[in-house]
Amino acid sequence: MNLYRVIFYFAANMSNHEQYPLRGEGITILAIESSCDDTSVAVCRNGVILSNIIAGQIVHEKYGGVVPELASRAHMQNIVPTVQAALDTANTTMDKLDAIAFTQSPGLIGSLLVGVQFAKSVALALDKPLIAVHHMQAHVLANLIDTDNKPDFPFLCLTVSGGHTQIVLAKSPLELEVIGETIDDAAGEAFDKCAKIMGIPYPGGPLIDKYAKEGNPLAFKFAEPQMPELNFSFSGLKTSVLYFLQKQESGFIAANQADLCASIQYTIINILLKKLKKAVQQTGISNVCIAGGVSANSGLRNGLTEMGKKHGWKTFIPAFQYCTDNAGMIAITAHYKYLAGQFAGMEASPSARAEW
Ligand code: KG4
Ligand code: ZN
Repeated sequence: MNLYRVIFYFAANMSNHEQYPLRGEGITILAIESSCDDTSVAVCRNGVILSNIIAGQIVHEKYGGVVPELASRAHMQNIVPTVQAALDTANTTMDKLDAIAFTQSPGLIGSLLVGVQFAKSVALALDKPLIAVHHMQAHVLANLIDTDNKPDFPFLCLTVSGGHTQIVLAKSPLELEVIGETIDDAAGEAFDKCAKIMGIPYPGGPLIDKYAKEGNPLAFKFAEPQMPELNFSFSGLKTSVLYFLQKQESGFIAANQADLCASIQYTIINILLKKLKKAVQQTGISNVCIAGGVSANSGLRNGLTEMGKKHGWKTFIPAFQYCTDNAGMIAITAHYKYLAGQFAGMEASPSARAEW
């Protein structure tokens, strides 16, 4: 069995492709994202994503979570074919590139290292500039990719991923301020940990979303934390789900899976949207986006849309392929950094930490 079977999701947006001749017509950037367990490579020209290839890693499935060492090894195996697929899909070649971008932080250090070193090697070989991108900034800017419905600045973005939960105030593409964040678990982590308690395989978020569609969100009530300001806490939810399930008879989870998933999802979304509402009230900004893996959640997408209608907000949600980790978002961020002349030197190194 091939442990590192490469799964390609050909997710290119080809709609504007033909309009952009290959040379001398703008800025062409190759972007590499390798912060966690997906190797992703995108090509962007003039801010238009021409390809966004994602090679997933199924090797982690049987461990119930990402194993960092295995992730780094799989990135090593995946990176060359993924880069090639991204260039081919964009109908371009290495010599047409104007810059090479990579995710610098935050993430798993071994995984980041693969992307950083690969990007440096390409930049050195082609004598092209390097652009270092912050993964969380890139999630926010996914809202600016290939859409007629882009948010005007300033906007607020609820960024909800497997490792982070933040409310970000975006004044311009490169001026982002975190105005609220989780003090413990991230929203995606809450989905995944609750799923694990119920015996649902990793990553549990998408499966909870799926099963929740058949369930009653009010069937079970789980406590919501009272956090000050715009901060979040999700570690208590997993504990209350655990204690609640420990008190039940055997067979309870299987018999109530849909209701449990719907109730857990409802609680997480409630916590998120209440804080988002507070952020709108505090800042007076009513252009509101979501981003990150959990923004793929159908309940959150619907909840935000409903809330926007109710309160007169303009709401924005990235296309599915730009919600979970992808290099398209790294490429769009790199495009703005290129325009601002923000390049990295060969001494650039990855960082596991989330500071901006
Ligand atoms: O942004 P992302 O791809 O990676 C990180 O930067 O962490 O987010 C991954 C997280 C995982 O926790 C996963 O369970 C969650 O996003 N996720 C979802 C859904 N799709 C992905 N959570 C709830 N519903 C979904 N549909
Ligand atoms: Zn992410």
